[in-house]
Amino acid sequence: MITDSMKGRFEREVAKYPADQRQSAVMACLAIVQQEQGHITQEAENEVAAYLGMPPIAVREVTTFYNMYNQRPVGKYKLNVCTNLPCQLRDGTNALHHLEQRLGIKMGETTPDGLFTLQQSECLGACADSPVMLVNDRTMCSFMSADKLDELVDGLRKAEGVA
Ligand code: FES
Repeated sequence: MITDSMKGRFEREVAKYPADQRQSAVMACLAIVQQEQGHITQEAENEVAAYLGMPPIAVREVTTFYNMYNQRPVGKYKLNVCTNLPCQLRDGTNALHHLEQRLGIKMGETTPDGLFTLQQSECLGACADSPVMLVNDRTMCSFMSADKLDELVDGLRKAEGVA
């Protein structure tokens, strides 16, 4: 459900483009939905499509192409580990497996306490810093050795009062 306050934010994004190109704001509008609701439902996609005057399938193509858009509920901390080839050659896959063991979940799953979701990601544009990962689509973490991964998980758990 798109709220009035979200529509107000949509309008500010749409205003950045010529009047006949409202659909250029689709990524920004989807990001707003995700910020407000945590993930993007098909209903929300349809509402964004109607709001921007574009076919629902065109919105669906955007949400399914970019893995920063959550198509289902995720944990409070979404950990995206890059497993593209350059990172695979420099321990990216090991980093993912280390987190699977440490969190007790498989890639794509969320911990039972709802704190962590673990995903693999496409190239994050920092291949030289491998293993790399992104936390909540915004915070880039470089050179993630097993020790640094443990430090990150422990730090986030501690911050949440779950030691
Ligand atoms: Fe991992 Fe480029 S392949 S950051």
